[in-house]
Amino acid sequence: MRSSQLSNEGVPLKSREVEAIPTPTSKILMNDFARQWSDTAESVLSAVRRVGGSGWYILGKEVSQFEALLAAHVQRQNVVGCASGLDAIELALRACKLTAGQRVLTTPLSAFATTLAIIRAGGVPVFVDVDDYGLIDTEQCRDALLEDRSMRFFVPVHLYGHALHRSALSELQNEFELTIVEDCAQAIGAFSEGHSVGSTGEVCAFSFYPTKNLGAMGDAGAVATDNMAVAARCRALRNYGQTERYQHDLLGMNSRLDELHAAILGEAFFPRLPEWTQRRQVIAATYRAGICNPGVLVPGAPEASQSVWHLFPVLVTATCREDFRLHLSNAGVESAIHYPTLIPYQAAMSQIPHQVKRPLTRAEEYSRSEVSLPIHPYLTQSEVERAIAAVNSWNP
Ligand SMILES: Cc1ncc(COP(=O)(O)O)c(C=O)c1O
Repeated sequence: MRSSQLSNEGVPLKSREVEAIPTPTSKILMNDFARQWSDTAESVLSAVRRVGGSGWYILGKEVSQFEALLAAHVQRQNVVGCASGLDAIELALRACKLTAGQRVLTTPLSAFATTLAIIRAGGVPVFVDVDDYGLIDTEQCRDALLEDRSMRFFVPVHLYGHALHRSALSELQNEFELTIVEDCAQAIGAFSEGHSVGSTGEVCAFSFYPTKNLGAMGDAGAVATDNMAVAARCRALRNYGQTERYQHDLLGMNSRLDELHAAILGEAFFPRLPEWTQRRQVIAATYRAGICNPGVLVPGAPEASQSVWHLFPVLVTATCREDFRLHLSNAGVESAIHYPTLIPYQAAMSQIPHQVKRPLTRAEEYSRSEVSLPIHPYLTQSEVERAIAAVNSWNP
């Protein structure tokens, strides 16, 4: 790093910004893996060479080292690497002994994987509405739990990189004796009341899908917990339920983490996470200060959340959304929608037992009105300004 070079936000400019200078008309992408590669290639290749030379490709030293790094980062005693975020949630629920038909409280506004994992683990998802920030509404969770006192499992999602309010989660946990599996796929490094996401529930799950704040060069995930027995069951479950060589005490799956992914994550990407997160936070602050189109609502982050801004959601009138996205696209700014169809309304759910605590007013509003703006760490200051100008020049 050339420490003398500072961007005008006071964040050090890395050599990538000097080398990969975008042309003024280049498209502003939701994710820019070419820039990430030019910044990280050397350390990625060093990790690959080490694994290649080791001759050990699955569940070895690299996986253990990455698990230790992550455990320290999320303040948990045990981390178990696995093949994806989807698997991490399923492993966590199965390790916590969710039994077939048990109801699991969760959010209708998330990646489908959150609910798919619950169903694969045998649970029956129960959906409640979200709050003004798109996060599961903990007051409505309380109402649902009071209505159904036998519900014991809860999978909240720290959506968009925002941390759910820690006290609200632990109050629910204590009052209703819940087993909480926190879905931290979008929120690694986010904090609430001084505590990392993933440190409140019994277990938490991470995804290292390439677009995530800490993304591998392929699929990967992890479970973190302080509960030794749960961790041991996750370790067995990820490897066919094997507790010792050729001894299968559980019916597990193949969700092993490759050494290559673990080495790349541990050596090339994890050390950059604080800088990447800081860059996302600076971009979010710049968007929040700069967007002043009355037709575009910027929800921001909940007060108690130290967000890591996996996504930057804005809201527009539902009937204008496509026009807004077209305007952005014409200005060379990519956008996305998270998520256009609520999970209980997906076709795959039609034959699957589940409950919806109606109404899902805010979640439906998000699914009709949300647009995500680009917020990856390799965006330059001038691209952020171009994106803001595009948003502000839209006439609803
Ligand atoms: C909130 C959330 N949960 C779970 C997942 C599943 O992670 P993966 O894609 O690694 O299976 C994702 C990723 O899309 C996600 O965003």
